[in-house]
Amino acid sequence: ATERKALFVFFGGTGDLAYRKLYPSLFNLYRKGNLRSHFAVIGTSRQTLDDEKFRAAIKKSLADSGNRSDSKEATDFISHFYYQAHDVTNVAHYSVLKDAADKLDKKYKLDGNRIFYLSMAPQFFGTIAQDLKTQGLMSTNKDAFNRLVIEKPFGRDYDSAKELNDALSKSFEEDQIFRIDHYLGKEMIQNIEALRFGNTLVESLWNNRYIDNIQVTLSEKLGVEERASYYDNSGALRDMVQNHIMQIVSLLAMEQPVAFTDTDIRAEKVKALRSLRVYNVADAATNFVRGQYGAVNDQPDYRHEDNVPVDSTTETFVAGKLLFDNYRWSGTPFYVRTGKMLADKFTRVDVVFKRPLVDIFAFPQSQNTPLAANVLTIFVEPHAGFSLQLNAKTNDTGFSTEPIKLDYLVDAEKSKDTPEPYERLIHDVLNGDGTNFSSWPEVSYAWKFVDQIRRVWDLQEPQFPNYTPHSMGPAAAEELIQRDHREWIYRL
Ligand code: BG6
Repeated sequence: ATERKALFVFFGGTGDLAYRKLYPSLFNLYRKGNLRSHFAVIGTSRQTLDDEKFRAAIKKSLADSGNRSDSKEATDFISHFYYQAHDVTNVAHYSVLKDAADKLDKKYKLDGNRIFYLSMAPQFFGTIAQDLKTQGLMSTNKDAFNRLVIEKPFGRDYDSAKELNDALSKSFEEDQIFRIDHYLGKEMIQNIEALRFGNTLVESLWNNRYIDNIQVTLSEKLGVEERASYYDNSGALRDMVQNHIMQIVSLLAMEQPVAFTDTDIRAEKVKALRSLRVYNVADAATNFVRGQYGAVNDQPDYRHEDNVPVDSTTETFVAGKLLFDNYRWSGTPFYVRTGKMLADKFTRVDVVFKRPLVDIFAFPQSQNTPLAANVLTIFVEPHAGFSLQLNAKTNDTGFSTEPIKLDYLVDAEKSKDTPEPYERLIHDVLNGDGTNFSSWPEVSYAWKFVDQIRRVWDLQEPQFPNYTPHSMGPAAAEELIQRDHREWIYRL
């Protein structure tokens, strides 16, 4: 790997995400040589810590993520970490941070390259971006890069997202802003492009003439856990649909990019999202349904989870139908669903092809069951792979058909070597590659779509709870698709 020189400044540097994902990912990049001697990390937060204690915490974070933390490699890596107590709302603190940054830049010969990583409450993103600029933390060396990485949520509706974006863009250009959507760092989500644009067999059928519908399922087994104070203000629509599902859908729906570059790919995703139909009130109400989980055995209902108000109307489940008004997809709906406390933890995409126009095997005296639809399934997690369901003749003297499957599953051994989303994404930030990040136009179209659903839901008191834990959601999610004479491919 090519070494990239950079100073990382983590805001929220003592947070759970940093210790669990970000630092171990940096370590992997170090082991692979993307980071070598020319890098340094400043962790900041309001806590008072010294370098030594911070490094002890990094050591623990490496150990907790399954690394040997006492090796020479780990020790060398950890020696690049520094801590700076920092109150993001105190302008004076930024000049202290600047001095620390400048010193490390000299010490490690970083050429002025800086990555500012905001892994903290989004209400401070605007202030931080502004003060980074006004207090001179951004490198002015013209060959150096300044990059801003931000975690979700990016606003809670279009207006707040726009406000946030306006604030960020006073300091950073769009191509310097890396909005994380960790689903875009997943192996099989990235594989959608290989599958589509690397295979004539697939891409030539990838349209409304041959595809009946596409189903995207992001199913979670756990409930809200200890994140209720965030989640209850968000709900499944904002938490999963606006970002992860919209991103997956745009990769599935987009036209072929001119080249495999971030600008070309983003342009196609934006074009796809522009043709996504934004629903009026009546259509929003019929095309989207919501749910909240009830109780079972010693599992309390959502409203009795810690830190959830007993009258909460927050949805823990969403299912909906998306329609694109363009030549490729007109008439082929995309059904999506996601929820907490469902039957299992998995992510998959099912592409359901149209049945043959004429079923020649269904002659009057035949006992044959009607031909099944061809289904191409993309297994994203926990197992990675593809499966293609075809019809074939059964192995007997008569003539009947049965669905069979061609499967490709990545074996467990290979899966172990698959880089974690965060490792890939930080790698891309180091390389200035924005392919697997959400651009502002994508984010804004996604919000405009989602806001319309939210607006309708906010007018009506939902009948919650309405689904049993460990099911696949409320009855309304079944009705949504059955109304169109279709069914979910994955069912219990
Ligand atoms: C996050 C959501 O973005 O994605 C969480 O905030 C959710 O609520 C998580 O649990 C799911 O991610 P993954 O990678 O475990 O499928």
